[in-house]
Amino acid sequence: MNSNQLPKNLVLKTACSKTDISRIAEFNKLIHEGVAVELFVKNLIKKHPTHAEQYWMFIEDSDKKLVVSSICLIPWELKLCGITVKAAELGFVGTLAEYRSKGLINILMQAFFAQAEKDGYTVSIIQGIPYYYRRFGYEYAIQLENHIDIELRHITGSGKKQYSFVKVQKKDTPTLQKLYNRRMADYDISAVRTKAMWEYLLGPAQKADTVHDNYMIKNKKNEAIGYFRIAHHGFGEGLMIDETSCLNTVMMEEIFSFARTIAENREKPSVQLILPLEHELSQYAVSCGGRITMEYGWQVKVLGHVKLFQLLKPVMEKRIAQSSFRGLTKKLLFNFYKDTIEFEIQKGSIRLIQSKGWHEQTEVMIPPFLVPQLLFGWKNFSELKSIYPDVWCSEKKEAALFEILFPKLSGYLHLMY
Ligand SMILES: CC(C)(COP(=O)(O)OP(=O)(O)OC[C@H]1O[C@@H](n2cnc3c(N)ncnc32)[C@H](O)[C@@H]1OP(=O)(O)O)[C@@H](O)C(=O)NCCC(=O)NCCS
Repeated sequence: MNSNQLPKNLVLKTACSKTDISRIAEFNKLIHEGVAVELFVKNLIKKHPTHAEQYWMFIEDSDKKLVVSSICLIPWELKLCGITVKAAELGFVGTLAEYRSKGLINILMQAFFAQAEKDGYTVSIIQGIPYYYRRFGYEYAIQLENHIDIELRHITGSGKKQYSFVKVQKKDTPTLQKLYNRRMADYDISAVRTKAMWEYLLGPAQKADTVHDNYMIKNKKNEAIGYFRIAHHGFGEGLMIDETSCLNTVMMEEIFSFARTIAENREKPSVQLILPLEHELSQYAVSCGGRITMEYGWQVKVLGHVKLFQLLKPVMEKRIAQSSFRGLTKKLLFNFYKDTIEFEIQKGSIRLIQSKGWHEQTEVMIPPFLVPQLLFGWKNFSELKSIYPDVWCSEKKEAALFEILFPKLSGYLHLMY
């Protein structure tokens, strides 16, 4: 079904007035249950630096003047191995119970993809519920919402007092930005966070579900050399630390002691890290008896394969140059069953990347839904091949080249709202 086939009383719209914004916010309060969600939505539409009202799409029952289904597009800029990639987050997806299973989200998704294409987004990402979004071509590809729980009894404290933790103020924004960028330099995949986004996080975001206690880490000379953030709301029972700068061992010991005291005061059973698994605090927590209690993932859809490969050209050339394939000359066909992308490589330089349409059988074949996992380094070619018989490679040498072109990557997207 497309929007022209909607029943007469149902109309596809985008937010264009204050009333629409209020109705969308009310709607999300109903769907996602909570006053703070309403404020969160209003903040995002009205105050977030990247927001545009046309990015809130909804279906209205015009007889009842009622929003019955709604989604939104939240703009991100991702860094993928140093390359900036425009990503459209699909957010706030919902349909009123009595209007479900009529294909309304399907229709809104068509509008979402059209808008994303018009505005030049290369990928779409969602933090969504399990399984559902596969029907739109999304697949798990970037770490999200890992929980590492450390019970308070495992936090013994070092007794050291080398650092002090001071509530962040708005004037700290440039320092926070620097510390964030330094941290993100450790990851292959991260989110760009501008000054305006930091100001949003320290301003409007503090008045909704997204509220955090933000602390600067200061040394004995009173210099701000790190930070960490404690979320007030989220999934789980523990005291949630969901973002930090780079930390040394003493900082980690002192943060845990500090967090234990807050957790005790707030009657929380544990300190719960919501951080990349490779983060030093996650690893330190595990070494002290903490347990990984949840792992999830951002679901990713590539909106334009050729466009993304073209963006990644310098990255792929560097990988070739640093491998035994250096100086390679080859025409490589990367077959996604529905489409085939041709790479013309001459002496290690990728001269041409183009779509060749459908091809019957080529040396390398991979189902299209697995492409995000390969490009975002969630799994590499041999891992995918070991699970899916239709990840196909007839030549060992080609398989080795794919391992080089698409290695596993580290990464994490800290929210910017
Ligand atoms: C998930 C939701 C948005 C779907 O809305 P909808 O308008 O019914 O969507 P569509 O009609 O386009 O698709 C309905 C299909 O999704 C399936 N579906 C619904 N919820 C699902 C879930 N949690 N997991 C998997 N499939 C689900 C339905 O069974 C139906 O399948 P069918 O087409 O084979 O009959 C709606 O059920 C909802 O608002 N749920 C509560 C809020 C929520 O979970 N939002 C998602 C947050 S990420």
